[in-house]
Amino acid sequence: MQDLVIRRPDDWHLHLRDGDMLRGVIADTSRHFARAIIMPNLVPPVVTSADAAAYRERIVAAIPAGDRFEPLMTLYLTAGTSPDDVEAGHKSGLVKAVKLYPAGATTNSHSGVRNIDEAMPVLERMAKIGLPLCVHGEVTSSDVDIFDREAVFIETVLDPLRKRLPELKLTMEHVTTKDGVDYIKTSKANLAGSITTHHLIINRNAILVGGIKPHYYCLPVAKRENHRLALRAAATSGDARFFLGTDSAPHVDPLKECACGCAGIYTSINTMSCLAHVFEEENALDKLEAFASLNGPAWYGVPANDETITLRKQVDAVSYPAKIDTGAGPVTVFDPMFPLHWAVV
Ligand code: DOR
Ligand code: ZN
Repeated sequence: MQDLVIRRPDDWHLHLRDGDMLRGVIADTSRHFARAIIMPNLVPPVVTSADAAAYRERIVAAIPAGDRFEPLMTLYLTAGTSPDDVEAGHKSGLVKAVKLYPAGATTNSHSGVRNIDEAMPVLERMAKIGLPLCVHGEVTSSDVDIFDREAVFIETVLDPLRKRLPELKLTMEHVTTKDGVDYIKTSKANLAGSITTHHLIINRNAILVGGIKPHYYCLPVAKRENHRLALRAAATSGDARFFLGTDSAPHVDPLKECACGCAGIYTSINTMSCLAHVFEEENALDKLEAFASLNGPAWYGVPANDETITLRKQVDAVSYPAKIDTGAGPVTVFDPMFPLHWAVV
């Protein structure tokens, strides 16, 4: 038996959804995580500070009794977003970041930004007040191959935006490529990247070899093995520019297992076990706390959590359900395809 004690982790990118699904999944996060950045891609999206305040109340009402969990709210950037509303939401302490979805990039992104020019007044205000922009970094044009969309985004959108507005704090979320890792590493300030649990574990073979495996499909889609290895190196390096954002994104099974399945992988329930396994494989258990519990708070300018969690390596495999039953329907849990031996005790 081996114990690893780390500060309580936070999840810097999470989809909690709403209604029955929210009530069905929130305990899997609040059990282990103290805080999470909550994605605003509901239907309709969380656009204004008033939307975020109402959504926050619904989340707080769903937290199981006894769990201490703080949802960190974000706004969904649209062409109509008001700089004054964003600033007021930030000043009140409610809004922790604004999310940029390129229109059409992913689930519920059709209200997103079509041209970055239309968002400049909001982005300039955010730069002024120090509010971070969380970025889904993929271009959407049909002539760009889906496996190249992140690299092309960096070159054609992200880098020009950073040159235009160097004071804007940017989180490149769910980095999936070596290109993304290398780009973040060139930055001296105002750019950091979150990495998901599943992108440290699967490459694109998981989705496509031996039949189509919809429960390994997410966006940005998992890439080739060399990219996964670059993500592992970044996450386990201790480099303060990289931290955990699970992008745990529940969809009910019928919406995943069909002719046009939704993107999203559900990892909230077993993320810490998966991460301990990955960090142990990389001989970097001493860097897990930086990745899951220290680098994110430092980037978002909040203190690390005082509480700790204990991960214990046990001889018998830790068992997780293959599916969870939410009031909205069954949601398949991420299967890392290896036995997990690290339990959160
Ligand atoms: O796989 C994903 N699922 N990627 C996203 O960007 C959105 C998310 C969702 O909301 O389902
Ligand atoms: Zn996401």
